[in-house]
Amino acid sequence: MKDRETGITRLNPPLWNSRYYYLWQLRKEIERAIKKYLSCLGKKLRIADFGCGNSPYKPLFEPFCKEYLGIDLPENPKATIHILPEGKINLLDNQMDVVISTQVLEHVPNPHHYLLEAHRILTAEGLLILTTHGYWIYHPDPTDFWRWTSAGLKKIIQETGFELLELRGILGRSAMGMQLVQDGLIFKLPSFLRPFLSIPMQLLIFLLDKTHSQNARNQDACTFVVIAKKQK
Ligand SMILES: C[S@@+](CC[C@H](N)C(=O)[O-])C[C@H]1O[C@@H](n2cnc3c(N)ncnc32)[C@H](O)[C@@H]1O
Repeated sequence: MKDRETGITRLNPPLWNSRYYYLWQLRKEIERAIKKYLSCLGKKLRIADFGCGNSPYKPLFEPFCKEYLGIDLPENPKATIHILPEGKINLLDNQMDVVISTQVLEHVPNPHHYLLEAHRILTAEGLLILTTHGYWIYHPDPTDFWRWTSAGLKKIIQETGFELLELRGILGRSAMGMQLVQDGLIFKLPSFLRPFLSIPMQLLIFLLDKTHSQNARNQDACTFVVIAKKQK
Protein backbone atom coordinates (compact mmCIF):
# COMPACT_ATOMS: atom_id res chain seq x y z
CA MET A 1 0.00 0.00 0.00
CA LYS A 2 1.39 3.38 -0.94
CA ASP A 3 1.48 6.05 1.71
CA ARG A 4 1.61 9.03 -0.64
CA GLU A 5 -0.92 11.00 1.34
CA THR A 6 -2.53 10.65 4.72
CA GLY A 7 -6.24 9.94 5.11
CA ILE A 8 -6.64 13.48 6.42
CA THR A 9 -5.22 14.94 3.18
CA ARG A 10 -7.65 12.85 1.15
CA LEU A 11 -10.59 13.93 3.28
CA ASN A 12 -9.54 17.59 3.56
CA PRO A 13 -7.12 18.30 0.70
CA PRO A 14 -5.29 21.63 0.88
CA LEU A 15 -6.14 24.17 -1.82
CA TRP A 16 -2.80 23.60 -3.60
CA ASN A 17 -3.34 19.81 -3.89
CA SER A 18 -3.35 18.75 -7.56
CA ARG A 19 -6.47 16.60 -6.84
CA TYR A 20 -8.27 19.30 -4.85
CA TYR A 21 -11.46 19.57 -6.92
CA TYR A 22 -11.82 15.85 -7.51
CA LEU A 23 -11.27 14.96 -3.82
CA TRP A 24 -13.75 17.63 -2.76
CA GLN A 25 -16.39 16.23 -5.14
CA LEU A 26 -15.68 12.66 -4.02
CA ARG A 27 -16.14 13.59 -0.37
CA LYS A 28 -19.39 15.40 -1.21
CA GLU A 29 -20.73 12.32 -3.00
CA ILE A 30 -19.80 10.01 -0.11
CA GLU A 31 -21.48 12.39 2.35
CA ARG A 32 -24.54 12.48 0.10
CA ALA A 33 -24.71 8.66 0.04
CA ILE A 34 -24.37 8.48 3.84
CA LYS A 35 -27.14 11.03 4.31
CA LYS A 36 -29.48 9.39 1.81
CA TYR A 37 -28.92 5.70 2.62
CA LEU A 38 -27.40 5.30 6.08
CA SER A 39 -28.63 8.09 8.32
CA CYS A 40 -32.26 6.90 7.94
CA LEU A 41 -31.52 3.30 9.00
CA GLY A 42 -31.63 4.29 12.65
CA LYS A 43 -29.29 1.56 13.85
CA LYS A 44 -25.58 1.23 14.42
CA LEU A 45 -24.06 -0.58 11.46
CA ARG A 46 -21.26 -3.05 10.85
CA ILE A 47 -19.16 -1.51 8.09
CA ALA A 48 -16.32 -3.09 6.10
CA ASP A 49 -13.88 -0.87 4.21
CA PHE A 50 -12.66 -3.32 1.54
CA GLY A 51 -9.28 -2.10 0.25
CA CYS A 52 -9.11 0.41 3.07
CA GLY A 53 -5.68 2.01 2.53
CA ASN A 54 -5.53 4.43 5.44
CA SER A 55 -9.37 4.53 5.74
CA PRO A 56 -9.71 8.21 4.76
CA TYR A 57 -13.50 8.25 4.94
CA LYS A 58 -13.82 6.44 8.29
CA PRO A 59 -14.61 9.70 10.20
CA LEU A 60 -17.68 10.22 7.95
CA PHE A 61 -19.05 6.73 8.68
CA GLU A 62 -18.17 6.50 12.38
CA PRO A 63 -21.35 8.20 13.70
CA PHE A 64 -23.39 5.42 12.06
CA CYS A 65 -21.35 2.35 12.95
CA LYS A 66 -20.83 0.01 15.84
CA GLU A 67 -17.91 -1.70 14.09
CA TYR A 68 -15.62 -0.50 11.30
CA LEU A 69 -13.36 -3.13 9.78
CA GLY A 70 -10.51 -2.05 7.52
CA ILE A 71 -9.71 -4.89 5.10
CA ASP A 72 -6.67 -4.82 2.83
CA LEU A 73 -3.70 -6.69 1.41
CA PRO A 74 -1.20 -8.19 3.90
CA GLU A 75 1.27 -5.35 3.21
CA ASN A 76 -1.08 -2.78 4.76
CA PRO A 77 -0.33 -2.55 8.52
CA LYS A 78 -3.36 -0.26 9.02
CA ALA A 79 -5.87 -2.98 8.07
CA THR A 80 -7.78 -4.87 10.78
CA ILE A 81 -8.20 -7.89 8.50
CA HIS A 82 -5.75 -9.01 5.86
CA ILE A 83 -7.00 -10.54 2.64
CA LEU A 84 -6.14 -14.20 2.17
CA PRO A 85 -4.59 -15.55 -1.04
CA GLU A 86 -7.10 -15.54 -3.94
CA GLY A 87 -8.67 -12.38 -2.48
CA LYS A 88 -10.79 -14.14 0.18
CA ILE A 89 -11.76 -12.40 3.45
CA ASN A 90 -11.67 -14.36 6.69
CA LEU A 91 -15.28 -13.47 7.64
CA LEU A 92 -18.44 -15.59 7.64
CA ASP A 93 -21.20 -14.94 5.10
CA ASN A 94 -23.88 -12.26 5.72
CA GLN A 95 -21.97 -10.34 8.42
CA MET A 96 -21.74 -6.71 7.34
CA ASP A 97 -24.47 -4.10 6.82
CA VAL A 98 -22.34 -1.94 4.52
CA VAL A 99 -19.25 -2.52 2.36
CA ILE A 100 -17.45 0.59 1.26
CA SER A 101 -14.89 0.42 -1.53
CA THR A 102 -13.25 3.71 -2.45
CA GLN A 103 -10.88 3.70 -5.43
CA VAL A 104 -10.11 -0.03 -5.21
CA LEU A 105 -11.91 -1.76 -8.09
CA GLU A 106 -9.46 -0.50 -10.73
CA HIS A 107 -6.59 -2.09 -8.75
CA VAL A 108 -7.86 -5.62 -8.17
CA PRO A 109 -6.71 -8.41 -10.50
CA ASN A 110 -10.21 -9.91 -10.73
CA PRO A 111 -13.04 -7.38 -10.21
CA HIS A 112 -15.72 -10.08 -10.51
CA HIS A 113 -14.22 -12.12 -7.64
CA TYR A 114 -13.69 -8.96 -5.57
CA LEU A 115 -17.37 -7.96 -5.95
CA LEU A 116 -18.56 -11.50 -5.19
CA GLU A 117 -16.56 -11.40 -1.95
CA ALA A 118 -18.13 -8.04 -1.02
CA HIS A 119 -21.53 -9.57 -1.82
CA ARG A 120 -20.83 -12.68 0.30
CA ILE A 121 -19.99 -10.77 3.50
CA LEU A 122 -23.01 -8.44 3.19
CA THR A 123 -26.29 -9.17 4.97
CA ALA A 124 -29.41 -9.58 2.77
CA GLU A 125 -30.17 -6.10 1.39
CA GLY A 126 -26.81 -4.86 2.70
CA LEU A 127 -25.40 -1.81 0.91
CA LEU A 128 -22.35 -1.45 -1.31
CA ILE A 129 -20.95 2.07 -1.62
CA LEU A 130 -18.27 1.90 -4.30
CA THR A 131 -16.20 4.50 -6.12
CA THR A 132 -13.79 3.82 -8.98
CA HIS A 133 -12.21 5.59 -11.91
CA GLY A 134 -13.64 6.27 -15.33
CA TYR A 135 -10.69 8.21 -16.82
CA TRP A 136 -7.49 8.61 -14.79
CA ILE A 137 -3.73 8.31 -15.08
CA TYR A 138 -1.97 5.01 -14.43
CA HIS A 139 -1.45 4.73 -10.64
CA PRO A 140 -0.41 1.25 -9.41
CA ASP A 141 -1.28 0.47 -5.78
CA PRO A 142 0.25 -2.09 -5.92
CA THR A 143 -1.29 -2.82 -9.36
CA ASP A 144 -3.57 -0.85 -11.70
CA PHE A 145 -5.57 -2.89 -14.20
CA TRP A 146 -8.88 -1.30 -15.17
CA ARG A 147 -10.85 1.82 -16.13
CA TRP A 148 -14.63 1.72 -16.27
CA THR A 149 -17.29 3.02 -18.59
CA SER A 150 -20.60 3.73 -16.89
CA ALA A 151 -22.23 0.83 -18.79
CA GLY A 152 -19.41 -1.62 -17.99
CA LEU A 153 -19.55 -0.77 -14.30
CA LYS A 154 -23.35 -1.18 -14.15
CA LYS A 155 -23.02 -4.54 -15.92
CA ILE A 156 -20.45 -6.03 -13.55
CA ILE A 157 -22.27 -4.76 -10.44
CA GLN A 158 -25.54 -6.32 -11.60
CA GLU A 159 -23.88 -9.56 -12.74
CA THR A 160 -22.43 -10.09 -9.27
CA GLY A 161 -25.87 -10.08 -7.63
CA PHE A 162 -26.43 -6.45 -6.71
CA GLU A 163 -29.40 -4.23 -7.45
CA LEU A 164 -28.06 -0.92 -8.72
CA LEU A 165 -29.65 1.97 -6.82
CA GLU A 166 -27.55 4.82 -8.22
CA LEU A 167 -24.53 5.51 -10.39
CA ARG A 168 -23.25 9.08 -10.40
CA GLY A 169 -20.26 10.59 -12.16
CA ILE A 170 -17.74 13.08 -10.78
CA LEU A 171 -15.95 15.50 -13.17
CA GLY A 172 -17.49 15.61 -16.64
CA ARG A 173 -15.58 15.33 -19.94
CA SER A 174 -13.95 18.75 -20.23
CA ALA A 175 -13.08 18.96 -16.51
CA MET A 176 -11.58 15.49 -16.68
CA GLY A 177 -9.69 16.37 -19.87
CA MET A 178 -8.17 19.37 -18.11
CA GLN A 179 -7.22 17.23 -15.10
CA LEU A 180 -5.30 14.97 -17.51
CA VAL A 181 -3.60 17.98 -19.12
CA GLN A 182 -2.57 19.15 -15.63
CA ASP A 183 -1.29 15.69 -14.70
CA GLY A 184 0.61 15.40 -17.98
CA LEU A 185 2.57 18.52 -17.04
CA ILE A 186 2.73 18.70 -13.26
CA PHE A 187 4.99 15.74 -12.56
CA LYS A 188 7.64 17.24 -14.86
CA LEU A 189 7.96 20.15 -12.40
CA PRO A 190 9.91 20.17 -9.12
CA SER A 191 7.50 19.85 -6.16
CA PHE A 192 7.94 23.46 -4.99
CA LEU A 193 6.68 24.75 -8.38
CA ARG A 194 3.63 22.45 -8.64
CA PRO A 195 1.17 24.70 -6.71
CA PHE A 196 1.78 27.46 -9.31
CA LEU A 197 0.27 25.13 -11.89
CA SER A 198 -2.25 23.21 -9.78
CA ILE A 199 -4.05 26.20 -8.22
CA PRO A 200 -5.08 27.85 -11.55
CA MET A 201 -5.73 24.46 -13.15
CA GLN A 202 -7.99 23.32 -10.30
CA LEU A 203 -9.94 26.58 -10.65
CA LEU A 204 -10.28 25.96 -14.40
CA ILE A 205 -11.40 22.36 -13.76
CA PHE A 206 -14.04 23.67 -11.33
CA LEU A 207 -15.34 26.12 -13.98
CA LEU A 208 -15.31 23.56 -16.79
CA ASP A 209 -17.22 21.08 -14.67
CA LYS A 210 -20.07 23.59 -14.46
CA THR A 211 -20.63 23.13 -18.22
CA HIS A 212 -21.79 19.53 -17.69
CA SER A 213 -25.14 18.36 -16.41
CA GLN A 214 -25.24 15.59 -13.81
CA ASN A 215 -26.83 13.36 -16.48
CA ALA A 216 -23.82 13.90 -18.75
CA ARG A 217 -21.43 13.16 -15.88
CA ASN A 218 -23.30 9.96 -15.11
CA GLN A 219 -22.25 8.67 -18.56
CA ASP A 220 -18.72 9.95 -18.89
CA ALA A 221 -16.67 10.88 -15.85
CA CYS A 222 -13.38 10.79 -14.02
CA THR A 223 -14.90 8.72 -11.20
CA PHE A 224 -18.15 6.86 -10.70
CA VAL A 225 -19.94 6.48 -7.37
CA VAL A 226 -22.14 3.40 -7.18
CA ILE A 227 -24.75 2.62 -4.56
CA ALA A 228 -26.04 -0.94 -4.80
CA LYS A 229 -28.03 -3.34 -2.65
CA LYS A 230 -27.40 -7.07 -2.17
CA GLN A 231 -30.31 -8.90 -3.72
CA LYS A 232 -31.95 -11.43 -1.41
C1 LIG B 1 -5.90 3.85 -4.34
S1 LIG B 1 -5.88 2.90 -2.87
C2 LIG B 1 -7.41 3.35 -2.12
C3 LIG B 1 -7.35 3.23 -0.63
C4 LIG B 1 -8.57 3.78 0.12
N1 LIG B 1 -9.74 2.97 -0.13
C5 LIG B 1 -8.80 5.23 -0.25
O1 LIG B 1 -9.90 5.59 -0.69
O2 LIG B 1 -7.88 6.05 -0.04
C6 LIG B 1 -6.18 1.25 -3.45
C7 LIG B 1 -6.28 0.22 -2.32
O3 LIG B 1 -6.67 -1.04 -2.87
C8 LIG B 1 -5.98 -2.04 -2.19
N2 LIG B 1 -5.98 -3.25 -3.03
C9 LIG B 1 -5.21 -3.52 -4.08
N3 LIG B 1 -5.48 -4.75 -4.56
C10 LIG B 1 -6.46 -5.26 -3.77
C11 LIG B 1 -7.19 -6.49 -3.75
N4 LIG B 1 -6.92 -7.45 -4.62
N5 LIG B 1 -8.14 -6.67 -2.83
C12 LIG B 1 -8.41 -5.68 -1.94
N6 LIG B 1 -7.76 -4.50 -1.88
C13 LIG B 1 -6.80 -4.29 -2.80
C14 LIG B 1 -4.59 -1.46 -2.01
O4 LIG B 1 -3.84 -2.15 -1.03
C15 LIG B 1 -4.95 -0.02 -1.59
O5 LIG B 1 -5.13 0.10 -0.21
